[in-house]
Amino acid sequence: MPSVTGMTFEHEQLTIHKGQRSGLPVAIAVHSTTRGMAVGGCRLKHYADWRDGVADVLRLAEAMTYKTAVAGLPHGGGKTVVALPTAAPLSPARRREVLLDVGDAVESLGGRYGTGPDVGTGPADMVTVGERTRWAFCRPAEHGGSGDSSGPTAEGVLAAIGALCAHRFGSADVAGLRVTLIGLGNVGTHLAKALSSAGATLTVTDVDPGRRALADAVGATWVAPDEAATAPGDLLVPAALGGLLSPDVVPLLRCAAVAGPANNQLTGEHVAAMLHERGVLWLPDPVVSAGGVIYGTGVELRGLSPEAALAEVRGIGATVTRILRAGGSPHAAAKALARERLTAA
Ligand code: PHE
Repeated sequence: MPSVTGMTFEHEQLTIHKGQRSGLPVAIAVHSTTRGMAVGGCRLKHYADWRDGVADVLRLAEAMTYKTAVAGLPHGGGKTVVALPTAAPLSPARRREVLLDVGDAVESLGGRYGTGPDVGTGPADMVTVGERTRWAFCRPAEHGGSGDSSGPTAEGVLAAIGALCAHRFGSADVAGLRVTLIGLGNVGTHLAKALSSAGATLTVTDVDPGRRALADAVGATWVAPDEAATAPGDLLVPAALGGLLSPDVVPLLRCAAVAGPANNQLTGEHVAAMLHERGVLWLPDPVVSAGGVIYGTGVELRGLSPEAALAEVRGIGATVTRILRAGGSPHAAAKALARERLTAA
Protein backbone atom coordinates (compact mmCIF):
# COMPACT_ATOMS: atom_id res chain seq x y z
CA MET A 1 0.00 0.00 0.00
CA PRO A 2 1.64 3.28 -1.09
CA SER A 3 1.78 5.98 1.56
CA VAL A 4 0.84 9.63 1.11
CA THR A 5 4.43 10.74 1.73
CA GLY A 6 5.91 12.58 -1.21
CA MET A 7 2.69 13.08 -3.14
CA THR A 8 1.92 16.58 -4.34
CA PHE A 9 -1.41 17.68 -2.98
CA GLU A 10 -3.53 18.41 -6.02
CA HIS A 11 -6.89 17.92 -4.39
CA GLU A 12 -9.21 20.75 -3.50
CA GLN A 13 -9.98 19.36 -0.08
CA LEU A 14 -9.32 16.50 2.29
CA THR A 15 -11.37 16.20 5.45
CA ILE A 16 -10.99 13.57 8.12
CA HIS A 17 -13.71 13.51 10.74
CA LYS A 18 -13.53 11.31 13.75
CA GLY A 19 -17.01 9.85 13.61
CA GLN A 20 -19.05 11.14 16.53
CA ARG A 21 -20.78 7.79 17.03
CA SER A 22 -18.27 5.25 15.70
CA GLY A 23 -15.00 6.95 16.66
CA LEU A 24 -13.65 5.85 13.26
CA PRO A 25 -11.88 8.16 10.81
CA VAL A 26 -14.20 9.20 7.97
CA ALA A 27 -11.99 10.54 5.18
CA ILE A 28 -13.50 12.48 2.30
CA ALA A 29 -11.32 13.72 -0.54
CA VAL A 30 -12.66 16.27 -3.01
CA HIS A 31 -10.26 16.18 -5.92
CA SER A 32 -12.01 18.57 -8.29
CA THR A 33 -15.25 20.51 -8.62
CA THR A 34 -14.10 22.22 -11.84
CA ARG A 35 -16.87 20.55 -13.89
CA GLY A 36 -19.42 20.53 -11.06
CA MET A 37 -20.23 18.82 -7.78
CA ALA A 38 -17.73 16.11 -6.87
CA VAL A 39 -19.17 12.58 -6.86
CA GLY A 40 -17.76 9.21 -5.88
CA GLY A 41 -18.66 6.28 -3.73
CA CYS A 42 -18.16 5.44 -0.06
CA ARG A 43 -15.73 2.64 0.67
CA LEU A 44 -15.92 0.72 3.97
CA LYS A 45 -12.86 -1.43 4.15
CA HIS A 46 -10.22 -2.76 6.50
CA TYR A 47 -6.80 -1.13 6.23
CA ALA A 48 -3.75 -2.15 8.26
CA ASP A 49 -3.27 1.53 9.11
CA TRP A 50 -5.98 4.19 8.82
CA ARG A 51 -3.48 6.38 6.95
CA ASP A 52 -3.47 3.78 4.17
CA GLY A 53 -7.18 4.55 3.85
CA VAL A 54 -6.33 8.24 3.49
CA ALA A 55 -3.80 7.44 0.74
CA ASP A 56 -6.50 5.36 -0.96
CA VAL A 57 -9.19 8.04 -0.75
CA LEU A 58 -6.84 10.56 -2.39
CA ARG A 59 -6.10 8.23 -5.30
CA LEU A 60 -9.71 7.13 -5.68
CA ALA A 61 -11.02 10.73 -5.68
CA GLU A 62 -8.56 11.69 -8.39
CA ALA A 63 -9.69 8.70 -10.48
CA MET A 64 -13.28 9.98 -10.14
CA THR A 65 -12.29 13.32 -11.69
CA TYR A 66 -10.77 11.41 -14.61
CA LYS A 67 -13.87 9.16 -14.79
CA THR A 68 -16.47 11.94 -14.76
CA ALA A 69 -14.49 14.11 -17.22
CA VAL A 70 -13.96 11.31 -19.77
CA ALA A 71 -17.66 10.42 -19.44
CA GLY A 72 -18.51 14.06 -20.19
CA LEU A 73 -20.48 14.47 -16.96
CA PRO A 74 -21.02 17.89 -15.38
CA HIS A 75 -19.38 16.60 -12.19
CA GLY A 76 -16.00 16.30 -10.56
CA GLY A 77 -14.26 13.69 -8.47
CA GLY A 78 -14.46 12.84 -4.79
CA LYS A 79 -14.53 9.75 -2.61
CA THR A 80 -15.15 8.60 0.96
CA VAL A 81 -13.14 5.98 2.82
CA VAL A 82 -13.83 4.70 6.30
CA ALA A 83 -10.81 2.65 7.35
CA LEU A 84 -12.02 -0.23 9.48
CA PRO A 85 -9.55 -1.43 12.12
CA THR A 86 -10.32 -5.13 11.55
CA ALA A 87 -11.53 -7.29 8.68
CA ALA A 88 -14.44 -8.61 10.80
CA PRO A 89 -17.91 -7.74 9.49
CA LEU A 90 -19.62 -4.83 11.28
CA SER A 91 -22.61 -5.60 13.46
CA PRO A 92 -25.81 -3.91 12.19
CA ALA A 93 -25.70 -1.40 15.08
CA ARG A 94 -22.06 -0.55 14.45
CA ARG A 95 -22.67 -0.27 10.74
CA ARG A 96 -25.48 2.20 11.37
CA GLU A 97 -23.17 4.34 13.52
CA VAL A 98 -20.52 4.40 10.81
CA LEU A 99 -23.02 5.28 8.07
CA LEU A 100 -24.62 8.10 10.10
CA ASP A 101 -21.10 9.45 10.68
CA VAL A 102 -20.50 9.30 6.92
CA GLY A 103 -23.77 11.18 6.39
CA ASP A 104 -22.69 13.94 8.77
CA ALA A 105 -19.28 14.23 7.11
CA VAL A 106 -20.84 14.44 3.62
CA GLU A 107 -23.37 16.99 4.82
CA SER A 108 -20.61 19.15 6.29
CA LEU A 109 -19.31 19.72 2.76
CA GLY A 110 -22.58 21.48 1.94
CA GLY A 111 -23.24 19.91 -1.48
CA ARG A 112 -19.72 20.15 -2.89
CA TYR A 113 -19.62 16.35 -2.78
CA GLY A 114 -22.18 13.56 -3.11
CA THR A 115 -21.60 9.93 -2.22
CA GLY A 116 -22.86 6.57 -3.44
CA PRO A 117 -22.22 2.86 -2.96
CA ASP A 118 -18.74 1.45 -3.44
CA VAL A 119 -16.66 -1.46 -2.13
CA GLY A 120 -18.25 -2.46 1.20
CA THR A 121 -21.46 -0.43 0.82
CA GLY A 122 -24.70 -0.85 -1.10
CA PRO A 123 -27.97 0.96 -1.87
CA ALA A 124 -29.50 0.10 1.54
CA ASP A 125 -26.54 1.78 3.25
CA MET A 126 -27.27 4.95 1.30
CA VAL A 127 -30.66 5.12 3.01
CA THR A 128 -28.86 5.34 6.36
CA VAL A 129 -26.31 7.86 5.05
CA GLY A 130 -29.32 9.74 3.65
CA GLU A 131 -30.79 10.22 7.12
CA ARG A 132 -28.08 12.86 7.62
CA THR A 133 -27.64 14.31 4.12
CA ARG A 134 -29.50 14.57 0.84
CA TRP A 135 -26.23 13.91 -1.03
CA ALA A 136 -26.42 10.12 -1.08
CA PHE A 137 -27.08 8.50 -4.46
CA CYS A 138 -28.41 5.09 -5.48
CA ARG A 139 -30.91 4.59 -2.66
CA PRO A 140 -33.46 1.89 -3.57
CA ALA A 141 -36.32 3.22 -5.70
CA GLU A 142 -38.80 2.94 -2.79
CA HIS A 143 -36.59 5.44 -0.94
CA GLY A 144 -36.54 7.83 -3.87
CA GLY A 145 -33.19 6.88 -5.37
CA SER A 146 -32.02 5.35 -8.64
CA GLY A 147 -31.26 2.01 -6.99
CA ASP A 148 -28.43 -0.47 -7.42
CA SER A 149 -25.96 0.83 -10.01
CA SER A 150 -24.09 -2.45 -10.50
CA GLY A 151 -26.31 -3.43 -13.46
CA PRO A 152 -25.66 -0.12 -15.27
CA THR A 153 -21.95 -0.39 -14.42
CA ALA A 154 -21.89 -3.83 -16.03
CA GLU A 155 -23.77 -2.44 -19.10
CA GLY A 156 -21.03 0.14 -19.49
CA VAL A 157 -18.30 -2.49 -19.15
CA LEU A 158 -19.99 -4.58 -21.85
CA ALA A 159 -20.20 -1.54 -24.15
CA ALA A 160 -16.48 -0.89 -23.56
CA ILE A 161 -15.63 -4.54 -24.23
CA GLY A 162 -17.70 -4.52 -27.45
CA ALA A 163 -15.85 -1.44 -28.75
CA LEU A 164 -12.50 -2.91 -27.70
CA CYS A 165 -13.23 -6.21 -29.44
CA ALA A 166 -14.35 -4.46 -32.63
CA HIS A 167 -11.06 -2.56 -32.67
CA ARG A 168 -8.72 -5.36 -31.59
CA PHE A 169 -10.39 -8.53 -32.86
CA GLY A 170 -12.47 -7.22 -35.77
CA SER A 171 -15.91 -7.86 -34.23
CA ALA A 172 -17.84 -6.53 -31.25
CA ASP A 173 -19.23 -10.02 -30.71
CA VAL A 174 -17.59 -11.86 -27.80
CA ALA A 175 -18.80 -15.31 -28.96
CA GLY A 176 -15.85 -17.70 -28.95
CA LEU A 177 -13.58 -15.19 -27.23
CA ARG A 178 -11.52 -16.56 -24.32
CA VAL A 179 -12.30 -14.25 -21.42
CA THR A 180 -10.88 -14.40 -17.88
CA LEU A 181 -12.94 -12.56 -15.27
CA ILE A 182 -11.44 -11.74 -11.87
CA GLY A 183 -14.00 -11.00 -9.16
CA LEU A 184 -17.58 -12.19 -8.83
CA GLY A 185 -18.96 -9.37 -6.70
CA ASN A 186 -22.00 -7.34 -7.76
CA VAL A 187 -20.65 -6.10 -11.08
CA GLY A 188 -18.62 -9.26 -11.75
CA THR A 189 -21.70 -11.43 -11.34
CA HIS A 190 -23.61 -9.41 -13.95
CA LEU A 191 -20.61 -9.67 -16.27
CA ALA A 192 -20.22 -13.43 -15.81
CA LYS A 193 -23.85 -14.02 -16.75
CA ALA A 194 -23.83 -11.62 -19.71
CA LEU A 195 -20.50 -12.78 -21.15
CA SER A 196 -21.41 -16.41 -20.83
CA SER A 197 -24.80 -15.97 -22.47
CA ALA A 198 -23.11 -14.02 -25.27
CA GLY A 199 -21.03 -17.13 -25.97
CA ALA A 200 -17.64 -16.20 -24.51
CA THR A 201 -15.44 -19.04 -23.27
CA LEU A 202 -15.24 -17.93 -19.69
CA THR A 203 -12.70 -18.54 -16.94
CA VAL A 204 -13.48 -16.96 -13.55
CA THR A 205 -12.13 -16.57 -10.05
CA ASP A 206 -12.96 -14.94 -6.75
CA VAL A 207 -11.22 -14.77 -3.37
CA ASP A 208 -14.42 -16.31 -1.94
CA PRO A 209 -14.46 -20.02 -2.88
CA GLY A 210 -18.23 -19.94 -2.31
CA ARG A 211 -18.57 -18.09 -5.63
CA ARG A 212 -17.63 -21.28 -7.44
CA ALA A 213 -21.30 -22.24 -7.58
CA LEU A 214 -21.94 -19.24 -9.83
CA ALA A 215 -19.05 -20.30 -12.09
CA ASP A 216 -20.69 -23.72 -12.46
CA ALA A 217 -24.11 -22.18 -13.06
CA VAL A 218 -22.86 -20.09 -15.99
CA GLY A 219 -20.65 -22.86 -17.39
CA ALA A 220 -17.38 -21.08 -16.59
CA THR A 221 -14.05 -22.71 -15.70
CA TRP A 222 -12.87 -21.90 -12.18
CA VAL A 223 -9.20 -21.06 -11.49
CA ALA A 224 -7.38 -20.15 -8.28
CA PRO A 225 -7.27 -16.37 -7.64
CA ASP A 226 -3.48 -16.17 -8.05
CA GLU A 227 -3.55 -17.93 -11.41
CA ALA A 228 -6.24 -15.86 -13.09
CA ALA A 229 -4.27 -12.77 -14.15
CA THR A 230 -1.72 -14.83 -16.06
CA ALA A 231 -4.14 -17.35 -17.59
CA PRO A 232 -3.87 -17.55 -21.38
CA GLY A 233 -6.74 -15.93 -23.26
CA ASP A 234 -7.91 -13.03 -25.39
CA LEU A 235 -9.35 -10.69 -22.79
CA LEU A 236 -8.74 -10.20 -19.06
CA VAL A 237 -11.52 -8.49 -17.08
CA PRO A 238 -10.47 -7.20 -13.63
CA ALA A 239 -13.60 -6.79 -11.51
CA ALA A 240 -12.16 -7.12 -8.00
CA LEU A 241 -10.06 -4.73 -5.91
CA GLY A 242 -7.43 -2.53 -7.55
CA GLY A 243 -3.67 -2.90 -7.92
CA LEU A 244 -3.77 -5.98 -10.16
CA LEU A 245 -1.45 -4.57 -12.83
CA SER A 246 2.04 -4.16 -11.41
CA PRO A 247 5.49 -4.08 -13.05
CA ASP A 248 5.89 -7.73 -11.93
CA VAL A 249 2.63 -8.94 -13.45
CA VAL A 250 2.80 -7.18 -16.83
CA PRO A 251 5.58 -9.39 -18.29
CA LEU A 252 3.61 -12.50 -17.24
CA LEU A 253 0.31 -11.57 -18.90
CA ARG A 254 -0.83 -13.95 -21.62
CA CYS A 255 -3.81 -12.01 -22.97
CA ALA A 256 -4.21 -9.57 -25.84
CA ALA A 257 -6.33 -7.04 -23.98
CA VAL A 258 -7.42 -5.98 -20.49
CA ALA A 259 -10.67 -4.15 -19.73
CA GLY A 260 -12.69 -4.26 -16.53
CA PRO A 261 -14.44 -2.17 -13.87
CA ALA A 262 -12.06 -2.60 -10.87
CA ASN A 263 -10.96 0.85 -9.69
CA ASN A 264 -7.28 1.83 -9.83
CA GLN A 265 -5.97 -1.28 -11.59
CA LEU A 266 -2.44 0.04 -12.07
CA THR A 267 0.01 0.08 -9.17
CA GLY A 268 1.51 3.21 -10.77
CA GLU A 269 1.11 5.46 -13.82
CA HIS A 270 4.16 3.97 -15.60
CA VAL A 271 2.47 0.57 -15.78
CA ALA A 272 0.21 1.91 -18.58
CA ALA A 273 3.30 2.50 -20.74
CA MET A 274 4.63 -0.98 -19.87
CA LEU A 275 1.36 -2.54 -21.03
CA HIS A 276 1.41 -0.52 -24.22
CA GLU A 277 5.02 -1.52 -24.97
CA ARG A 278 4.18 -5.19 -24.39
CA GLY A 279 1.34 -4.89 -26.89
CA VAL A 280 -1.37 -5.55 -24.32
CA LEU A 281 -4.32 -3.28 -25.04
CA TRP A 282 -5.45 -1.94 -21.66
CA LEU A 283 -8.52 0.23 -21.31
CA PRO A 284 -8.25 2.62 -18.34
CA ASP A 285 -10.68 1.62 -15.60
CA PRO A 286 -12.06 5.15 -15.17
CA VAL A 287 -13.37 4.89 -18.75
CA VAL A 288 -14.69 1.34 -18.42
CA SER A 289 -16.30 1.67 -14.97
CA ALA A 290 -18.23 4.92 -15.47
CA GLY A 291 -21.64 3.28 -16.03
CA GLY A 292 -22.75 3.43 -12.40
CA VAL A 293 -21.97 7.08 -11.88
CA ILE A 294 -23.37 8.06 -15.31
CA TYR A 295 -26.61 6.25 -14.49
CA GLY A 296 -26.99 7.31 -10.84
CA THR A 297 -26.27 10.99 -11.42
CA GLY A 298 -28.18 10.97 -14.71
CA VAL A 299 -31.37 9.83 -13.02
CA GLU A 300 -30.95 11.70 -9.73
CA LEU A 301 -29.28 14.96 -10.74
CA ARG A 302 -30.12 15.43 -14.41
CA GLY A 303 -33.67 14.06 -14.37
CA LEU A 304 -33.07 11.41 -17.04
CA SER A 305 -35.39 8.45 -17.39
CA PRO A 306 -33.74 5.09 -16.64
CA GLU A 307 -33.82 4.32 -20.39
CA ALA A 308 -32.14 7.60 -21.34
CA ALA A 309 -29.54 7.12 -18.61
CA LEU A 310 -28.77 3.60 -19.86
CA ALA A 311 -28.38 4.95 -23.38
CA GLU A 312 -25.77 7.37 -22.00
CA VAL A 313 -24.07 4.46 -20.26
CA ARG A 314 -23.83 2.62 -23.57
CA GLY A 315 -22.14 5.73 -24.95
CA ILE A 316 -19.03 4.44 -23.17
CA GLY A 317 -18.61 2.29 -26.29
CA ALA A 318 -18.25 5.41 -28.48
CA THR A 319 -15.81 6.94 -25.98
CA VAL A 320 -13.67 3.79 -26.10
CA THR A 321 -13.69 3.82 -29.91
CA ARG A 322 -12.61 7.47 -29.88
CA ILE A 323 -9.76 6.72 -27.47
CA LEU A 324 -8.59 3.69 -29.45
CA ARG A 325 -8.72 5.56 -32.76
CA ALA A 326 -6.54 8.30 -31.29
CA GLY A 327 -3.69 5.75 -31.45
CA GLY A 328 -0.86 5.40 -28.97
CA SER A 329 -1.56 4.32 -25.43
CA PRO A 330 -5.29 4.37 -24.54
CA HIS A 331 -4.35 5.74 -21.12
CA ALA A 332 -2.56 8.71 -22.69
CA ALA A 333 -5.49 9.32 -25.06
CA ALA A 334 -8.08 9.11 -22.27
CA LYS A 335 -6.04 11.39 -20.01
CA ALA A 336 -5.73 13.90 -22.86
CA LEU A 337 -9.51 13.80 -23.34
CA ALA A 338 -10.07 14.32 -19.58
CA ARG A 339 -7.61 17.23 -19.52
CA GLU A 340 -9.25 18.83 -22.52
CA ARG A 341 -12.65 18.66 -20.83
CA LEU A 342 -11.31 20.00 -17.53
CA THR A 343 -9.65 22.93 -19.27
CA ALA A 344 -12.78 23.70 -21.26
CA ALA A 345 -14.87 23.82 -18.07
N1 PHE B 1 -18.89 3.35 -7.02
C1 PHE B 1 -19.35 4.44 -7.85
C2 PHE B 1 -18.12 5.11 -8.42
O1 PHE B 1 -17.20 5.34 -7.68
C3 PHE B 1 -20.07 5.38 -6.97
C4 PHE B 1 -21.23 6.13 -7.46
C5 PHE B 1 -22.26 5.54 -8.17
C6 PHE B 1 -21.32 7.45 -7.12
C7 PHE B 1 -23.32 6.30 -8.55
C8 PHE B 1 -22.38 8.20 -7.49
C9 PHE B 1 -23.39 7.61 -8.21
O2 PHE B 1 -18.06 5.36 -9.60
